[in-house]
Amino acid sequence: MHDAPVGPLLLPVISRRPAAPLSGTIRVPGDKSISHRALMFGALAVGQTRIAGLLEGEDVLRTAAAMRALGAEVTQEGPGAWVVAGRGVGGLTEPADVLDMGNSGTAARLLAGILASHPFFSVMTGDASLRRRPMRRVTDPLAQCGARFAGRDGGRLPLAIEGAREPLPIDYAVPVPSAQVKSALLLCGLNARGITRIEEREATRDHSENMLRHFGATVSVVMHGAGRIIELMGQPELRAADVVVPGDPSSAAFPLAAALLVPGSRLRIEGVGLNPLRTGLFATLREMGAAVTVENARTEGGEPVGDIIAEYAALRGIDVPPARAPSMIDEYPILAVLAAAASGTTRMRGLKELRVKESDRLTATAAMLSANGVRVTIEGDDLIVHGGGIPGGGIVATHMDHRLAMSALVMGLASRDGVGVDDASFIDTSFPGFLALMNGVIGNGGVPALVAA
Ligand code: S3P
Repeated sequence: MHDAPVGPLLLPVISRRPAAPLSGTIRVPGDKSISHRALMFGALAVGQTRIAGLLEGEDVLRTAAAMRALGAEVTQEGPGAWVVAGRGVGGLTEPADVLDMGNSGTAARLLAGILASHPFFSVMTGDASLRRRPMRRVTDPLAQCGARFAGRDGGRLPLAIEGAREPLPIDYAVPVPSAQVKSALLLCGLNARGITRIEEREATRDHSENMLRHFGATVSVVMHGAGRIIELMGQPELRAADVVVPGDPSSAAFPLAAALLVPGSRLRIEGVGLNPLRTGLFATLREMGAAVTVENARTEGGEPVGDIIAEYAALRGIDVPPARAPSMIDEYPILAVLAAAASGTTRMRGLKELRVKESDRLTATAAMLSANGVRVTIEGDDLIVHGGGIPGGGIVATHMDHRLAMSALVMGLASRDGVGVDDASFIDTSFPGFLALMNGVIGNGGVPALVAA
C-alpha cells in the first residue's frame, strides 16, 4: 500500500468541463467514521456482528487488519458484507507485529484508546502523512488511565504503547473539537472500572455514542452550552449487534458539488447518512442558494438516512460561522471550490483544525485554488475565497490527501481550462471507484471527463 507519493504509485489525473450535465441516481460508499467504529466495537463485543455496507476503502481495511491482529475474527462475506467475531470488552490480545494504520488518523487515534486499555505492548505506525499528524491530543488524556506511550518528537507515530493493567476511568474536557479524541477516550473507558466522563465544548459527530448504545452500553449525554457532557459506565458486556452503514455524506459531497457546478445537472444520491452533526455542508449550501433537497428521510441502524437531490444552481458567497466547522470539518476543500464558482466572496471562519488533517488542508486548499487562478487568502484561521469563476489550467499538489484530490477534480469540471492533480491514488482511502462513478454520471458523449494524465 501507499508509503510516499513517489515513483510508480503516482496517479496523475486531469478533469475538464463536460459538454453535458450530470444526471442519474447513484450511491456513494459507506460512511468511513461508522465503518471504523463498527469493526472496532464488533471486535469488543461478545458474539458475531454483521455489517452491511462497510466502506472497503484502504483506511477501513487497515482497521479490519488491526482488529484481526488483536485476536478478533474479521471476514468478508460479500461486497460490503462483513462479519466480526468479537473477543469481548478487555479481551483483545497482544499483536505479534507493528500495527500499520496507513493514511488513517481515525483508525490510529481510535485504536490508541483500545490499546491503552489492554495490558500488553504494541507499536503503531502509518504512512508519511499519518506519521506527521499530532497524536498527543489522544495520548496525553489516555495516559490518565495508566497507559504509557513513547513516540517520536511531538508524540508522533511510530508510537509504542504499554497498555494499563487495570485501566482507570478518565475525566477530561477535550480542548479541541475532535470526535476522534472523544472516541479514543470512550473506547478506553469501556475497559475501565467506573464512569468515564468527557466534556466537549463544541458538539462533534456522535457515531461512537450511538453505536455504544446499539451494542448495549450505558451512555448518557447532557447538553452543556454549545457542547456536551458524555458519561460511559465502564466494563459493560457489549453484545454483538448488526450494523447497516449509510452512505458517507462526506463522500456524497463530491458528486453533489459537481451537480451544483455543471449547468443543467440533476443528481440523486441515495441512502446518505444525515446525522445532524455531519450535515453542516447542506445548511451552508442552502444559504449559498443551492437546490439541495432530501427525500425519503428514514432511520437505519440508529442513524438518520435520506436520498439527496442536487440540481445546478447559481451560488452566492456567504460568511460561514466558526460554529459550523465541527459539523462539516471534512467538507471545506469542496466548499472552497463551490465558493470559487459562486458570485461574491465567501469567508469560512475558524478552520484551525484543518491544519492537522491528512495534509495541512487550510494551506493546501488555498494553494489548490490559487494554482488555478482563483483569488484566495488566509487570515488567521479564516479562508477567504473570491468567487466569480475558475480559470483552471493548474496542477494541484494533493499531499497524500484524498479530499484535496477529489475537490480538485470536481473543480476541473467547472473550470475554463481543466484542472490536474499530481496523484489521485489516495482517493481509494475513502472513495474507491470515484473516477468511474463520476465519469458514469457525467453525460459527455461517452468521453470521460476525468482521465489519467
Ligand atoms: C472523524 C473525525 C474528524 C474527521 C475525520 C473522521 C471520526 O476528525 O475529520 O475524517 O471518524 O471521528 P477530528 O476528530 O480530528 O475532528
